[in-house]
Amino acid sequence: MKKVVLAYSGGLDTSCAIKWLKDYGYEVIAFIADVGQGEDFAQVEKRALKTGAKKVYVGDLKKEFISDFILPALAANAAYEGKYLLATALTRPLIAKHLVEVAHREKAAAVAHGCTGKGNDQVRFEVTTRILDPKLEIIAPVREWEFRSREEEIDYAKTHGIPLNVSKKKIYSIDKNLWGISIECGILEDPYAEPPKDVYQMSVAPQDAPSKPTYLTIDFEKGVPSMINGKRYGLMELIARLNDIAGKNGVGRADMVENRLVGIKSREIYEAPAGTCLYTAHRELEALVLDRELLHFKEMLGLKYAELVYYGLWYSELKSALDAFIKMTQKNVTGTVRLKLYKGNCIPVGRRSPRSLYRKELATYTGKDKFNQKLAEGFIRLWGLPFEK
Ligand code: ARG
Repeated sequence: MKKVVLAYSGGLDTSCAIKWLKDYGYEVIAFIADVGQGEDFAQVEKRALKTGAKKVYVGDLKKEFISDFILPALAANAAYEGKYLLATALTRPLIAKHLVEVAHREKAAAVAHGCTGKGNDQVRFEVTTRILDPKLEIIAPVREWEFRSREEEIDYAKTHGIPLNVSKKKIYSIDKNLWGISIECGILEDPYAEPPKDVYQMSVAPQDAPSKPTYLTIDFEKGVPSMINGKRYGLMELIARLNDIAGKNGVGRADMVENRLVGIKSREIYEAPAGTCLYTAHRELEALVLDRELLHFKEMLGLKYAELVYYGLWYSELKSALDAFIKMTQKNVTGTVRLKLYKGNCIPVGRRSPRSLYRKELATYTGKDKFNQKLAEGFIRLWGLPFEK
């Protein structure tokens, strides 16, 4: 019997996919990726077996997610269309990589995923798979089967005895991991409608946040966050703590209409409290330690980097080349940034670094000024010379 390795989440789509793939003639191996979504994985594993999976793998990908995916994106300040910190997009190449590894271990002929035919995730899974092993067949059951609605799919699950922990009332489509959450569907499909309170899961509403600001410091060493308030944490705990502190202050929300790779505009709500603090602090530190040209050039690359991640091109040559460049730029990104979190805002209020390029004796307007203003005159004449008529 041919084997297929399915990226299984335990939700409705991938549960029905197990049954559907079996009917298609495959032996199904379920791969559950732990990217910090905080599920009861023992339960999910049980459900996969009960639904008909022959074997289940649970991959704890959290460490690798942080070190190999989140840190490079943070170093690049990569935010798609300036707002989305890519929490979902960053996991796809990681999960696909492990899917391919399991497929090799199991000598499977195919891999499968539960993405729809309208989204970006199908592209990310499949492009990554094809880059890593073009011989593997890729099956996308949700793109092929003929359920016209969620209700119809639930009925299919019920008639086939597929155990579910969903209800017909579920309104939002949610993707969650340790770096953030992406929420769409329901009322959110009206881009003019304000998201109802119950949409948000990692942050309180800014108006309900404490009326006293929370101050904190974040330290970086060569672009990698290392401390909060002078205390050293492993990255997993550092992110968890920041999610908590920032979430309580209503920090990290984004409401956007974005351009999907498949040509559709869609409205999505994001929360990334820790990510928002880290991006803000990281940029602030770079402003202090990178020279003007490097900083400006790097800013452009950040947008490109985000596009590559969003487009599923994580394993492209351009992305690796950008990584090499960005890594070089981080060698002086060491120092401390002070943030003030207040009712949904994350405000940098201080920065310092042993590698600071800030020269007070040049910037000051006091008697301590060492800047030779006479030099400005000649500089301005030559600078403007090409444009004089
Ligand atoms: N729009 C985001 C992306 O393409 C998130 C996709 C998943 N969103 C969701 N709510 N299930 O990366």
